[in-house]
Amino acid sequence: MSNDDTRKEIKVLIAGAGIAGLSTAIALGRLATDTPGLHFDVQLYDKATELREIGASIALSPNGLRTLERLGVDDALADDVSYRGPAALPMIYHHWKTNEVVSADRFVDVPDRKHQTARFHRGHLHSTLLGHVPRETIHLRKAVESVVVRDDDAANGVGGGGGGGGGTVTLLFQDGTSATGDVLIGADGLRSKVRRTFVPGHTLHHTGRTWIRSTFDASLIRDIPNLPADSAHWWGPRYTFFASRLGRNMYTTVGNYDPEDLPGRRGHGEFRWDQEGDVNFFRDLYADWNPVVKALADATPHVRMYPNLAGEPLESWVFEKRVTLVGDAAHTHGGAHAAGGSLALDDAWALYLSLKHVLSSSTIDDDDDDESDKTFGSEEFERAFTLYENTRRPHTTRLVESVLATKAAAVVPSTDEELREKMNNRPNMTWLTEHDVEATFAKVLENEMGNNVVEDDDARQVERESVIFDIREATTIMGIPGSESVLDTTTESAVMVK
Ligand SMILES: *[C@@H]1O[C@H](CO)[C@@H](O)[C@H](O)[C@H]1NC(C)=O
Repeated sequence: MSNDDTRKEIKVLIAGAGIAGLSTAIALGRLATDTPGLHFDVQLYDKATELREIGASIALSPNGLRTLERLGVDDALADDVSYRGPAALPMIYHHWKTNEVVSADRFVDVPDRKHQTARFHRGHLHSTLLGHVPRETIHLRKAVESVVVRDDDAANGVGGGGGGGGGTVTLLFQDGTSATGDVLIGADGLRSKVRRTFVPGHTLHHTGRTWIRSTFDASLIRDIPNLPADSAHWWGPRYTFFASRLGRNMYTTVGNYDPEDLPGRRGHGEFRWDQEGDVNFFRDLYADWNPVVKALADATPHVRMYPNLAGEPLESWVFEKRVTLVGDAAHTHGGAHAAGGSLALDDAWALYLSLKHVLSSSTIDDDDDDESDKTFGSEEFERAFTLYENTRRPHTTRLVESVLATKAAAVVPSTDEELREKMNNRPNMTWLTEHDVEATFAKVLENEMGNNVVEDDDARQVERESVIFDIREATTIMGIPGSESVLDTTTESAVMVK
């Protein structure tokens, strides 16, 4: 048999062409080069009528930026497309009334400036990723209605049946058309239809915050006196305010409030995600803050509203052996900690590592007898997706649990002293922002080989935070602004009390 005859093709369907879907397509595109003898056909489907991102900002932390580099998307690391402030700090915290700097986050191990937290207009990041995905593989106006899996040994699956059996997965679209492949990756966001198909009982709830976000030309804030050059996060007793330069001479402002705090307003259902808001309402929220914040709110030309939703962590990320999820579809953490973009990138990379590991160990044997036709099907896909899940789910569950616990335990500081204490005792999020997805994957693989129980730090932390959530010991919760959030669940002392 010639090489060509033994080539196998794997057709991958990706539902969603946002940041998670595009990152996944770029990562899986590399499998073709890394697993000789295999062909990959990766196709993306999105309900949008054109490829556009919402007009909000997105932050990528060192973990996400390192993964962008692994993906070969070097153009997204360039200084023009995003913004990194002169202080080289991930975040600086200011007092709402006095504007003084109370505290700052620091990088622990990020020597290279291009890996330091960068802030983008979402559209700029999205279009950079788009430049790395063949346009003809992206199909628009394809809203997912549901998913059908056929795991049929008789079906003519990848490699013509064999060890893993055949079978297919089909995306049914609302326009009556469909697409069929070997595996499906649901990258269709917080309200994922793919997730809904397999976990119909999963629900989302409002976290008690609605974000108000704007992006606009930086010339509008040029003349504001004492405006910090670095990204700044002002904390008030109930709400926060975030402002930053973005790449390509754009600027962002982000406020937030709890609809239940406002008498006479209609509550959480008041706004749809990305609905236009009232800029005067936004300005009124910050009318008695320090002059810099007030001037920023006044300079903001328009706002859009984003009610923040989150949902319980999923118990599994592998469905019918050939379907999995990435990005917000997999971990419904809302926008907490501005982590969503970086988590999606790391999901894509973990999926690539897992598939590469399983496919290269189960297919390559180019001799000629029938055994060399060792095939792969649902069993191999399931193995790869399980590796992926074990690499990512404990980590993202830790975040989702902390978001939900925050909602349950919010306490408003009653004095200025308490506010400052809360600012200084905010949780250390380095485990999230400098997470090493490759090291975690290696650990998972080692555990699988050794048949050990996975006992990583994230899994332990989840357990601990659940306990704290139960006993309502989480004490110091602050508002969750925009995507730049401050949430915390726990303090060491809370654990010790227990
Ligand atoms: C935050 O945690 C990291 C480990 O994840 C640690 O190296 C660092 O020193 C901590 N930072 C502070 C300010 O405690």
